[in-house]
Amino acid sequence: MVSPLRLERYRRIVVLTGAGVSAGSGLPTFRGAGGLWARDDGPGAGGFDAASLAADPRGVWKFFAELRTAARDAVPNAAHVALATAQASLPAGAELTLITQNVDGLHQRAGSTGVIELHGSLFRSRCSSPSCATEPFDDASASDEASPCPVCGAALRPDVVLFDEAIPALAEWQSKKALRECDLFVAIGTSGTVSPASNFVRAAEYSRARTVLVNLDAMVPRHPAYDEEILGRAEDTVPILFAPPPLI
Ligand code: OAD
Repeated sequence: MVSPLRLERYRRIVVLTGAGVSAGSGLPTFRGAGGLWARDDGPGAGGFDAASLAADPRGVWKFFAELRTAARDAVPNAAHVALATAQASLPAGAELTLITQNVDGLHQRAGSTGVIELHGSLFRSRCSSPSCATEPFDDASASDEASPCPVCGAALRPDVVLFDEAIPALAEWQSKKALRECDLFVAIGTSGTVSPASNFVRAAEYSRARTVLVNLDAMVPRHPAYDEEILGRAEDTVPILFAPPPLI
């Protein structure tokens, strides 16, 4: 039986989300049966890395272009909405920082503000050439052909973080700052296999926060820094966990 986290007891809440939060919107996760990294036309269990991009920028573009279309057509589910509502309903002085590994933009479309996109966004593109200084720009194009960079002519790439690539410095800095101050940390819909996000719970533990994992499947082995694990579909559990306090 799932019961509310009692958000009113906390002042600095950090929520970390992964692909499981968007499963209820019909978007596939990365790992497990039906996961993106298990697809025949995908990169395999290791995911795309910097070397795959150098070898086949157009193939990487095509793969993510499909995800961009799927994300654009998806609708935020009850978990996205509950997190946005909880953030908007906090009392003065309390904060909820939402850090997401997702690149689908659904938290923002549900109304969450200040979302930290740790792995970038499907809805931005940038140049695939490391020597080109073009800044990432908003891009919702549905084309499965990468356009040439307007400055240097190399193929464009999605502004998402591939394996072996650095996490955007500002996103990492903002995440660490929030984790240093947090008193409640909740990870939702993530397998906890990709760092640095998989270790954020450790930082939260150092801050003496209550640490909660909310996921469909049990984490095996569970990271020892989690105090609690709540199993179920995020679209079912999150609206209960993040319910506003009852009016007396
Ligand atoms: P994963 O695919 O590794 O894990 C998704 C987790 O969501 C699994 O543990 C599932 O049990 C759980 N899950 C599935 N459906 C759910 C539901 N309805 N409610 C709650 N949980 C559910 O996804 P991430 O942990 O997000 O990086 O993966 C982390 C990173 O690995 C991704 O951001 C991506 C990938 O490589 C990049 O692409 C840079």
